[in-house]
Amino acid sequence: MPPPGEWRCAAAIVPAGRTATFRLDCGNRTVNGFVVNDGAGYRAYVNRCPHVGTPLDLWPNELLAEDGRALVCSTHGALFEPATGRCTAGPCAGDRLTPLPLTLEGDTVVVRCVGE
Ligand code: FES
Repeated sequence: MPPPGEWRCAAAIVPAGRTATFRLDCGNRTVNGFVVNDGAGYRAYVNRCPHVGTPLDLWPNELLAEDGRALVCSTHGALFEPATGRCTAGPCAGDRLTPLPLTLEGDTVVVRCVGE
């Protein structure tokens, strides 16, 4: 079991062009998030669309557009850059996903709660 405030997975589970969802225990709240590997690196975001606040994935872990280049919100179709979380199209254009601190420790992806 990872310590509270931390989520870990083997980097190999999230190859380029893939995502993985997780729940992070952050003290008195649970944060639903996801990791995306865009081929250039790993990023983690809170799984909450800045438009209405719903999770991006209607079907679990269905987070990427068909071409695999953008994250997509299944509620109203907003598109996000995997590398920055910036919304490039849709009702929240210019807004951003909330990033979570992510580090690579050897072959392990480690995501921590904000501020820990
Ligand atoms: S809730 Fe995501 S685009 Fe509307």
